[in-house]
Order: sequence, then C-alpha cells, then structure tokens
Amino acid sequence: MSYNIGIIGLGVMGQMLALNIERNGYSLSAYDLDPEKQKNAKVKFAGKNIFVASNLRQFIKDLETPKKILLMVPAGLPVDAVLADLKPLVKKSDIVIDGGNSFFANTTERTKKLKKDGIYFIGTGISGGEQGALWGPSIMPGGDPAGWPMVKPLLQSIAAKADDGIPCCDWVGNDGAGHFVKMIHNGIEYGDMQMISEAYFLLEQLMGLGPWEMADIFEEWNKGELNSYLIEITSKILRKKDDETGKPMIHMILDTVGQKGTGKWSSQAALDLGVPALTIAKSVFARIASSYKEERVAASKILKGPKPHFSTADKQGFIENIRKALYASKICSYAQGFQLMKRASEVYEWDLNYANIASIWRAGCIIRAQFLNNIKEAFSAEPNLDNLLLYPYFRDSIHESQVAWRQIIAISIENGLPIPGFSSAISYYDSYRAELLPARLVQAQRDFFGAHTYERIDKPRGQFFHTEWE
Ligand code: 6PG
Repeated sequence: MSYNIGIIGLGVMGQMLALNIERNGYSLSAYDLDPEKQKNAKVKFAGKNIFVASNLRQFIKDLETPKKILLMVPAGLPVDAVLADLKPLVKKSDIVIDGGNSFFANTTERTKKLKKDGIYFIGTGISGGEQGALWGPSIMPGGDPAGWPMVKPLLQSIAAKADDGIPCCDWVGNDGAGHFVKMIHNGIEYGDMQMISEAYFLLEQLMGLGPWEMADIFEEWNKGELNSYLIEITSKILRKKDDETGKPMIHMILDTVGQKGTGKWSSQAALDLGVPALTIAKSVFARIASSYKEERVAASKILKGPKPHFSTADKQGFIENIRKALYASKICSYAQGFQLMKRASEVYEWDLNYANIASIWRAGCIIRAQFLNNIKEAFSAEPNLDNLLLYPYFRDSIHESQVAWRQIIAISIENGLPIPGFSSAISYYDSYRAELLPARLVQAQRDFFGAHTYERIDKPRGQFFHTEWE
C-alpha cells in the first residue's frame, strides 16, 4: 500500500484537511507527535483511506515518491522542529508544504534552505476555518515554483470553487509570497470585522436598535453589494439567543478581542514597506484598545463625552447611510491591502497577479465576498492599476456613497462613538486624493531643527535645499 500524500499535525485544521483530501480521492498517511491526537484521529478517520502512524518513520515509509508532505502545525518553532525531524527522511525532489499561518520571511528562508538539499518547499496560506478546511478552503501557495506542478492537481481539487467553477487556489509567487498574501488576507479580515462591528455599534448605541432588528438589517445588506461571509455570520450572530439566559448572545459577550498576530504582522509590513495601511493597523489597535476593559470602565466614570442621541427623523435613510459608509470604508481597506501587496511584490520581486489573488479569495476564505469579483475585474482590465480607488467602478461607488459616509463619521464623532475603522478609511481616501498635504510644514520643521533639507515646488524633484531659519 502506498499513500498519495502525508499530513503532519492532526489538530482541527489538519484533520479537516485530511478528510477533504481523502474525499477527493487521495490516500493519506497522517501523523501527530501527540499520542492523544493520534488516538482521536484513528476514531475520526475510521473507514477512510487514511493511515494514522504512530511515529515519523512509519508515517513516511509508504508515501509514494516524490513524497508530498503537508505540515499543519503551529507557526514558528514547531515548523522548524518538524523540518529538522524530517530532514534525514526526505530526499531530493520531495515536496514539503507548510499550510499554517507562518510568517512570510520564515517561509522565504525555509524555501531557500531546503532548496539546497533539493527539497521543494511550498508555504501556503489556507483560509476558511474548520468548515472551509473540510469542504473547500481558499489556498494561497507560494515558495519553490518547481514543486507547484506536483501538488497543483491535489490542492486545486480540495480548494473551494467560485461561482464560475474556478478553483480558489493558484500559484501566488516565489518564496514567502503565499504566506504574505495570506497575511494580507488576515489584515483585510481584521479591517472588515472592525468596520462591520462599527456599523453594528452605530445601529445599537446610536439608533437604539435591538439584536433582531439588526440581524434583519445585516441580512438585507447581504443581498446587495456588501454580500459576504462576514456580513452573513454577523446577521446569524445577532439572531442567536444564549442557551443559559435566553438573552441575545451578543449581549452576553465581553467587549474585548484577542488576536493571534497576522493582523499585527500586516501592519508591521505596512510600516516596513512604507504603505499607509491605516485601516488594517487601526483594526489591530482597536483590538488592543478593547483589551483594556477594566481601565476603560474606570475611565468611563471620569472622562466626559457626549451621550449618544439619535435625532434623525428618517430612520431608514440613516440605516442606508451606515451601509454606504461601511461599503466606502471597505473599498478603502481593500485598496490598502492591495497597495501593500503591490509594494511587497516590487520589493521582493514576486510578480504578484492581483486579479488571481482576488479570484482565489472569492470563495472558501473568511473574507469571501461578491465584491471580490469586482476587484478581479479591475485588475484583469488594468493589471498595473496603482490603486483600487482609481478604477471606475470603485471610484464611482465612493463618489456615490461619499456624502453619506462623511455624514455618518461626523455624527459618530459628535456622539462620542469610536469609529477607528471608518475614520481611518476616510483619512486614507482624503490623503490619497489630496493634491496638497500639510507635509510641507513637517518638512520645514525637520529642516529647522535638524537641517534635514527639503525639496522646493519651483525646482525639480530630487534637489534638496536647506534654510538658515533663524
Ligand atoms: C482564516 C483565518 C485564520 C485566523 C483566524 C484567527 O483565514 O481562516 O484568518 O487563519 O487564524 O481568523 O485570527 P486572529 O486570532 O488573529 O483573529
């Protein structure tokens, strides 16, 4: 008996992927360092074409050559530990795939290191949570392109399919490109979640709507241009009652958010690469701010601010304006994510294909949305588009939503409701479209106290001047 592929790491994601791969006609050898997980997997995989090994040698012995090994272990040191254990057991032309949320620079290093031994390393983002892993995730492979043809049929067969039947899995780029794109996916995911939660907060804290009314609103929004998985689950969350108390579940949940780090990495990458990804970073900071629960409660008794007061007669019109604000902000957040990928592609020479990336995100992943079809269309029509905001469809959408967007932000601020997602999105928009920025004064100050020089409006770019200010 030989197995088509091996999988190491039988946590929830590993198990679900193994079942997905098996369902698509492949045989597997599976292994986890933890005997307890081996035991669970044996129960879970009973009757399936999946062999659960009790040690690494047994796991690898009957893999068909070239061996294909998918790692589903936590990012960081565990990946290096498994790679070290595998080193004596794999040979030239074998393929190792890291399907975890690894940091892209680690993937670049690992790809280069393993290439020296003739091993093809593929670092792939996999999105979609447990259900996605089982029924079809979005898969973003990068690494050593020589390994891709060998795993392409398998990965594309287990991936989600968009409405047009195209698999949500395609080669992203060399080295850490796949994990970089997954990291940006998560940064965008943070932005989407933050901005949806701001819309919810306005509906509840300003308009005074109840969870069921809000669930109806999100359900309605899901039928239009905001159609997406995250809007869909928001509606379901708002409709859910707590089994214990019978109260709306949303009111039983403490207002603090955790994070595993990919949003932070995206923001750090934005700083490193010099991209103003304000909304992605603000969404991370919003999570951090939420974690100061006790301090916030204490401060709420000391620091004064307006009490939210809803005075608009046209309730439906106001709800529609919140929707527009959310959509315009979403466009800006995606524009930042794509701008970040564009810069990374230039710096790391990845030759990213943005239409393909949008296509891969259309189904299976957490940010899947109708709107990704429009992004795909934009980059198919203009592969070198500088910024999504400039594409006629998005430009017109923002123009159409703009008055509502500004009004909602102004009202939120007047009422003392924090909207870091919405406000950072509009700052991004207004900065990007600004012919003139206050930056000239900052530059003058730099020259004043540190002789950092400045460029002049009446001289060519690249010539620098200094003034004796006093
Ligand atoms: C996905 C998700 C997933 C991520 C969780 C939690 O694409 O399936 O992005 O990879 O781990 O969403 O992320 P945080 O804990 O950072 O919110």
